[in-house]
Amino acid sequence: MPREKNTFYVTTPIYYVNDVPHIGHAYTTIAADFLARFARLKGLDTFFLTGTDEHGQKVEKAAAASSMSPQDFVDRVGGHYLKLWDKLEISNDDFIRTTEDRHKKAVTALWKTVAQKGDIYLGEYEDWYCTPCESFWTEKQLVDMKCPDCSRPVEKLKEQSYFFRLSKYGQPLLDHIEKNPGFIKPDYRKNEIVNFLKEGLRDLSVSRTSFSWGIPVPGDEKHVMYVWFDALTNYLTATGYPDDARRSEKYWPADLHIIGKDILRFHAVYWPAFLLSAGLPLPKQVFAHGWWTVDGQKMSKSKGNVVDPYATAEKYGVDAFRYFLLREVPFGLDGDFSEKALAGRINADLANDIGNLLSRSVTMIEKYRDGVIPSAEPSAEREELEGRVKFLFKDLPHQFEKAVEELNFHEALSKVWAIVKELNGYVDRCAPWKEKDESTLSTVLSTLAESLRILAVYAWPVMPASGQKMWESLGIDKNIGEARFDEAVVWGSTLTGMKIRKMPPLFPRLQ
Ligand code: MSP
Repeated sequence: MPREKNTFYVTTPIYYVNDVPHIGHAYTTIAADFLARFARLKGLDTFFLTGTDEHGQKVEKAAAASSMSPQDFVDRVGGHYLKLWDKLEISNDDFIRTTEDRHKKAVTALWKTVAQKGDIYLGEYEDWYCTPCESFWTEKQLVDMKCPDCSRPVEKLKEQSYFFRLSKYGQPLLDHIEKNPGFIKPDYRKNEIVNFLKEGLRDLSVSRTSFSWGIPVPGDEKHVMYVWFDALTNYLTATGYPDDARRSEKYWPADLHIIGKDILRFHAVYWPAFLLSAGLPLPKQVFAHGWWTVDGQKMSKSKGNVVDPYATAEKYGVDAFRYFLLREVPFGLDGDFSEKALAGRINADLANDIGNLLSRSVTMIEKYRDGVIPSAEPSAEREELEGRVKFLFKDLPHQFEKAVEELNFHEALSKVWAIVKELNGYVDRCAPWKEKDESTLSTVLSTLAESLRILAVYAWPVMPASGQKMWESLGIDKNIGEARFDEAVVWGSTLTGMKIRKMPPLFPRLQ
């Protein structure tokens, strides 16, 4: 990762606190976790942020329906996410809640800065509003008089409101997108935003008077701020804005906002426009991933097919679930989740490939070398045996890193697994269990141990517990998280003399 600064700041959306966590929330957060873990391995000063979006009409209504105050409601339901992230081994450095004082302070400061710039004015709007999406629509944009995004009913709202001069920022945004080809990814999503901008922007209503669960508009407390103005600012709040300028300058602009495709407009149009107005730098990249369907169907509460990530990880294993989500579908595209596909991946890639490679290697070292990893012996066959495998690993760091930089997790993992398959083929071909001279056998076993040590480093960002267990099996007591990628993936005979530890299979086969 060649970069101007030695920092890496990655974010997920902050999730609506009233939603039950589903596979989509887990997906973004696992992807961000992968990147944060990898950045730390690369030695970058990493800041990984996630959190919850706790204001807005939707939450106010949900609280009322449960006969609770909004604050009590958010305090109670927000815990789901913390519990899930703990289960899924998410290594976030901070967890932001928009009801925290530090956030109210940041949003108020950003509002005042934008207002001083002359970009906020009082007006009146009459428009259609979709509460589930917290979005405004003109009558023309509605489809069959329903929300064009989620097809749910909309309501007509007529209120006094503060407006943000969004219309002023269409051209500056187009210029920015053109100068920074990496700003919106994937490219097909960028094109959608470019087309949207070219149609021209209307000013954006950024306050409401019809409910009160939000951050008050400075100087006019009848109004609360539009929930997206509030929510998007979380990315700045967590850097220490506005009080801790040093920290804020260290991490801002964020390197990457990972989001789902449905909330791209908020992140690639509104958010950068607010930042331009405030004179702040724009995030370096906004990456919109695709959506999961379930057994070929759209996931919805009414269909009762919402995939519970906690229960799925409990049933199939945290690492297997994490691996499946990142390996199954190229990041950016839509994908389909089914337990059958998950079980298929577990049996093929995890039980048969990596799990088998580890267990057969450890078993042979136990059987033929009393559990002590031998050194590769100089022999005529050494070049053939060890040399071939070493060669496989030579280009991997570069290929893996490049794929990760493009958020192409699917590709990064398939490169690693191609080597795992090669190694299983290597064991089959060498058949160390047949008559072998001792030095050849030592070379084969040493080569396998060294390969597994390196593979564990590549596996760790997606499967932290399993990567660590691989090291433990090889007798390595260090924490992979403290390793440095550039050194740890270099081939060497680092394990000679180590005592392996037999462990239960990493990924038992599922029936
Ligand atoms: N609170 C806003 C985000 C504010 S960010 C400043 C929000 N929250 S949410 O709880 O609705 O979470 C939405 C995230 O989940 C989005 O990134 C969305 O794309 C993602 N997903 C919702 N359903 C999904 C799938 N079926 N598949 C993948 N991701 C999905 O929006």
